[in-house]
Parts: sequence; C-alpha cells; structure tokens
Amino acid sequence: MTSPALSPSPPPREVLVVPDPGALAAAAAERFARIAETAVACAGRFTVVLAGGSTPKGLYARLAAEPYRSRIPWGQVHVFWGDERCVPPAHTESNFRMAWETLLQHVPVPPAQIHRMRGEDLDPDRAAAEYEGILRKVFALKAGALPRFDLVLLGMGHDGHTASLFPGSPALREVTRLVAAPSVAHLAAYRLTLTLSVLNEAAAIMFLVAGRDKASMLQRVLEGPERTDLLPAQLIWPRSGTVSWFVDAAASHLLQRSTPKERLA
Ligand code: 6PG
Repeated sequence: MTSPALSPSPPPREVLVVPDPGALAAAAAERFARIAETAVACAGRFTVVLAGGSTPKGLYARLAAEPYRSRIPWGQVHVFWGDERCVPPAHTESNFRMAWETLLQHVPVPPAQIHRMRGEDLDPDRAAAEYEGILRKVFALKAGALPRFDLVLLGMGHDGHTASLFPGSPALREVTRLVAAPSVAHLAAYRLTLTLSVLNEAAAIMFLVAGRDKASMLQRVLEGPERTDLLPAQLIWPRSGTVSWFVDAAASHLLQRSTPKERLA
C-alpha cells in the first residue's frame, strides 16, 4: 500500500482501522518509517513531534526494534514533543521519560537532536518561551513564521483534548505563540503544549487512538457536529498537509459508514 502521505495527492484526512493495538503500532511504525525515509531523502533530515500518554508506547517500542531500528536514519532525525507535563524528566508522568524509555535510549538519535521541553522549570511560561526559541533556531524561522514538522504524532483524550489543548482552554485561541503554558484546572497543573498554528502547519499528522473507552469521543470528533470549543481534536486540520487517524477496532466500533475509512489487514 503506498502511503497516502507519500502519494502525489494524499487525501487531507484518512481513517485507518486496524484490528488491535498491536496492529495499530505496526501500521503506524510503517507509516512513520516511510515519512522519515522520504524526509531525509528530500531534505536531509526528519523532524518529528512525539505524543505523550500511553497509546504511543507500542509504536515507540516497535520503532526501537528491528527492522525499524536499522531502517530509519536516526542520525538525521530531530525529535520534539507536542506537549509535556510540568514535572522533571525523571518523573513517572514525564512524556520525555516515556519516550526515552520506550524509544530514544534504544536508537542512535544524536543527543543534540533530542529537543526536550523543560517541564521541570518552575516558571512554565519561561519554559514555553525557551522551547519556542529552540523551534525558531532549529527551523531558522523568520519573525512570524511557523515551523513545518515532517510528522506530528498526536493522541486523543476521553474529553477530546489533544496534545495539552484541553476543552475551553485559552490556548485554543493562541495565534501568536508557538508554545503555550496553559493552566489545566481539572488537573490542578500547568502543561506545556505546541499551539494549534504549529500543529496544523505540519506536513503530516498521525493520530493514534485505541480502546473501547475512546469510541464515543472518536465518533463525536470525526462524525459529530463541529464543537471545536469542546472538542479540540476537531481543530486539527493541516493547512497544507495530511491527517491520518490510526484507530483500532475497539475505538472505531461506533463510527458510521459515512466516515471515509480504510481497513488495514
Ligand atoms: C499527554 C498527551 C495527551 C494524550 C491523550 C491520550 O500528555 O497526556 O499528550 O494528549 O495523547 O491524553 O492519552 P492516552 O494515549 O494515554 O490515551
């Protein structure tokens, strides 16, 4: 199957249904690898935003093992995060720690190309501004320009949030900053997150959604009325790229026929 992300005119949105989380990790790993190979062949590097939470763990573990450990040109990969909890990198809640343990400690990405959000900073706004500076430097951005990541990985929460863009968050209306540090009331915590402008500038976005407990929200996000204030994941629509929803059968069982979806073996 030619990856739509690589075909001449990929669909703006695709929903790929796979049987289970293992198949989701396998399908996502293959798409990740193809996008990485194409990016390095075309531009000499691959810039990827990792998602946090638990769903991506299967993907990261597969990328850390053969054949992807040898196949992906890790020396040309630049790793970023879509969001981070405001905790130290060794904390069990850290998205950096999860990615480090499942992927990054097993593959040869040069340390200088692992761009971590400093969740440990006691001033989240300062950490957000610092990460914005890293983006501006790595992408050599002119004032007002946006970084265009080759690939952004995202999850979706039960409440329709993605990255750390939660329902009703002022960060959903941020149009200037590249990185925000919203206070998340129900978590009684701050988060660091890329803003929608940055996420929607990506060349390719992959959502990873698995489990029956996500089915109702997935149906609302993909097929329900537009409620972007309540369902931030509905706001993800690349300006000039593709968005692919990799979902397992349990998460997709409420989707109607109206949603264009392709069932992978
Ligand atoms: C985070 C993630 C968040 C996550 C969703 C889904 O920091 O938690 O960035 O947006 O992707 O909450 O999480 P699960 O994959 O654990 O369901």
